[in-house]
Amino acid sequence: MDFSVPQEITMMVETIRNFVKKDLDPISQQVEEEDHIPEEIVEKMRGLGLFGLSIPEEYGGLGLSMLGEVMVQEEIAKTNGCFRSRISTNNGLGSQGLILSGTEEQKKRYLPKIASGEWTACFGLTEPEAGSDAANIQTTAVLKGDHWILNGTKIFITNADCAQVATVFALTDRQKRAKGGITAFLVEKGTPGFSVGKPEKKMGLRGNHTNELIFDDCTVPKANVIGGDAMIGQGFRIAMQVLDKGRMTIAASAVGAAQKLLDISIEHAKTRVQFGAPLAKLQAIQFMLADMATQIYAARQMLYHAACLRDQRGTSVIMEASMTKLFCTEMAGRVADMAVQIFGGMGYTKDCPAERFYRDLRLTRIYEGTSEIQRVVIARELLKD
Ligand code: CAA
Repeated sequence: MDFSVPQEITMMVETIRNFVKKDLDPISQQVEEEDHIPEEIVEKMRGLGLFGLSIPEEYGGLGLSMLGEVMVQEEIAKTNGCFRSRISTNNGLGSQGLILSGTEEQKKRYLPKIASGEWTACFGLTEPEAGSDAANIQTTAVLKGDHWILNGTKIFITNADCAQVATVFALTDRQKRAKGGITAFLVEKGTPGFSVGKPEKKMGLRGNHTNELIFDDCTVPKANVIGGDAMIGQGFRIAMQVLDKGRMTIAASAVGAAQKLLDISIEHAKTRVQFGAPLAKLQAIQFMLADMATQIYAARQMLYHAACLRDQRGTSVIMEASMTKLFCTEMAGRVADMAVQIFGGMGYTKDCPAERFYRDLRLTRIYEGTSEIQRVVIARELLKD
């Protein structure tokens, strides 16, 4: 397998590395405390094209390959996780349904605004009774004349508070459910009967919010069924395909964060003196650093391989995407644990970035499919006829 990286990707990665160092790292702590990303930073992110990494160039995005996208996402994950999360739904869950299954008219209407970051897009699948069991959604959509009437509540929706458009999944046939009974809709902010509910008080990812989406006799035009009439009932497949891609970018964020944790652990080990010498002289610390580096190396190779595979095949890589998310996020959890251990008492305080990464990374084993769901997907792929 050829792992050579095109020059435009290395240049983009370099640009993001400098942006992280110059603009994001200095305000990471402020964002953490204020639970808010300043608008001028969001504007700079727009200027760099970060909201349209994966959106085709013809619709105003950068049109990066999967390899390019995971490398950029890895880089931006080396600072406060809220920055990556802010761009994540435009590149992934909020836009991919449109890219994969939208009509040309829908793509032209929405994708340029999403790619530029003028609009934020979010993804409404999860509900109180439908977390891992995504097919168990209760939100309904009933056709009345030229409109679908949506009723129900979505929860844990990343970027809901700043989104102008949501991809929303609703039941259009209770009996068929995942097998032809769920439809994907585009719902714009301001649509009658559509509102954003309360934000969650989360363990981490401060600066980026998750809220409810509430549909109370919400009237959505027929034209807003993703893919048009032909795609009525095909929403579950769209959701799964979107998640297949999203899972690879979560893996990328885990690898980037783990690398940052290794970097700061090495720096700390070289400068922190105990027992009359830097920590780095102690074999117990050396072994932890060696384990962290080895696991990151393995995870990164897996991630790039799966990304290249997706680029070559041009479609989802279902099993490899789940394997990559499972392995990279579990790896990052172990690395974060070791980083906190190396920092010792300091690692347990809010002044130490390892503490923030430790909390933020915990989510990567849960959202866009828990580690257990990834194992379900992998096992099903292994055992299918
Ligand atoms: N690609 C295409 N089609 C797929 C597919 C895929 N990856 N996976 C399933 N399908 C199709 C199946 O082929 C089947 O259709 P047919 O019968 O016509 O072939 C249909 O979808 C139903 O599939 P299953 O029978 O496998 O469905 P299931 O109910 O057993 O569920 C599951 C499978 C893998 C457990 C799924 O429910 C799942 O992935 N759950 C996790 C949900 C998840 O990741 N949620 C995250 C929400 S978003 C988020 O977290 C972000 C945020 O903003 C916080």
